[in-house]
Amino acid sequence: MNAPPDFAGYEVGYDIPALPGMDEADIQTPCLLLDLDALERNIRTMGDYAKAHGMRHRSHGKMHRSVDVQKLQERLGGAVGVCCQKVSEAEVFARGGIRDILVSNQVRDPGKLDRLARLPGYGARVTVCVDDPANVAELSAATQRHGNTLACLVEVDCGAGRCGVATPGEAVALARAIGAAPGLEFAGIQAYQGAMQHLERYADRKARLDVAIALAEAVVADLRAAGLPPALVSGGGTGSYRFESNSGIYNELQCGSYAFMDADYGRILDEDGWRLDQGEWENALFVLTSVMSRAKPGQAVCDAGLKVLSLDSGLPVVHGRDDVAYVNASDEHGVIVDRRGVLRINEKLRLVPGHCDPTCNLHDWYVGVRNGKVEVVWPVSARGKSY
Ligand SMILES: Cc1ncc(COP(=O)(O)O)c(C=O)c1O
Repeated sequence: MNAPPDFAGYEVGYDIPALPGMDEADIQTPCLLLDLDALERNIRTMGDYAKAHGMRHRSHGKMHRSVDVQKLQERLGGAVGVCCQKVSEAEVFARGGIRDILVSNQVRDPGKLDRLARLPGYGARVTVCVDDPANVAELSAATQRHGNTLACLVEVDCGAGRCGVATPGEAVALARAIGAAPGLEFAGIQAYQGAMQHLERYADRKARLDVAIALAEAVVADLRAAGLPPALVSGGGTGSYRFESNSGIYNELQCGSYAFMDADYGRILDEDGWRLDQGEWENALFVLTSVMSRAKPGQAVCDAGLKVLSLDSGLPVVHGRDDVAYVNASDEHGVIVDRRGVLRINEKLRLVPGHCDPTCNLHDWYVGVRNGKVEVVWPVSARGKSY
């Protein structure tokens, strides 16, 4: 989806929740709201951290699915490119002008292999993960049909229990096969531990990452011994990036959620016992909602329910308010406990979603605000691109 730069013909409410220049008070709800100051601070903080630790940062675009947010991450945070999980997401970023794309996932369907192999034609360097020798042959055949080259990372399962080979021996065999396959380039390994990112205690996360790092280290040692030193050792998320950065093994981070934050990540604790949303990262993403009913004492009802909020990681939190609490959602309603009856009809509240990625995918637009004014309205460019 792409909006014309001047939004000519767009009607607020009908086509779009807001237009640049409007007062924040006039935004149509429910919609995704970005606090641009907080977003920019988060992006700069990660960029500075990565630079100080000699790491590349390839921001994960599955979180925001937005070409505009990705470009901001590259411009302000020095991100080297984008990670995607799906070929259709990668197509949106390639067409949007992103020049270095990693599909941090397996691609096996014949139609998708063809689309992936066409992507370098947009001028992007394209990298994909591999965990099966048969996939090496499929990818090589697809690149030859299209006269392009794809870079490949051997995916190592370092504890997430999903895709990826389990042993250094398998990783070396795959790297060798990639290196020998026409149209493919062996670019390194991906070792992302997704199963520990949201553990609340820092020590528990560290214990899981220590195991992941030990496996990544063994894989790298065997690759070097086989004459196949990996240029990239990629992985790391918002709950783990400090461990990969200090490992001496990884050289590329893939963090996504840090830029927006959400309630689930906000609850986990850093090394000093601070919640992530009170230490390193600020809430930059909200679902803006309006109160529409006060028919019952002690309760208000807002216009944000299941169709605009993903509840897989818990209920949203009302930002900056401990006097009211969002307690229940149905399709189009959110029930808010308001014991003292402080909320007013049409009062707007900022909800911090439980889980940012699937919440963003429910919306067409980001409304970016600063100092009470709408500054930008960006499309959720890859919304629904899960194929
Ligand atoms: C392959 C991969 N890399 C990195 C991430 C990191 O994302 P986040 O920082 O949002 O946890 C994810 C998230 O699921 C992922 O699947």
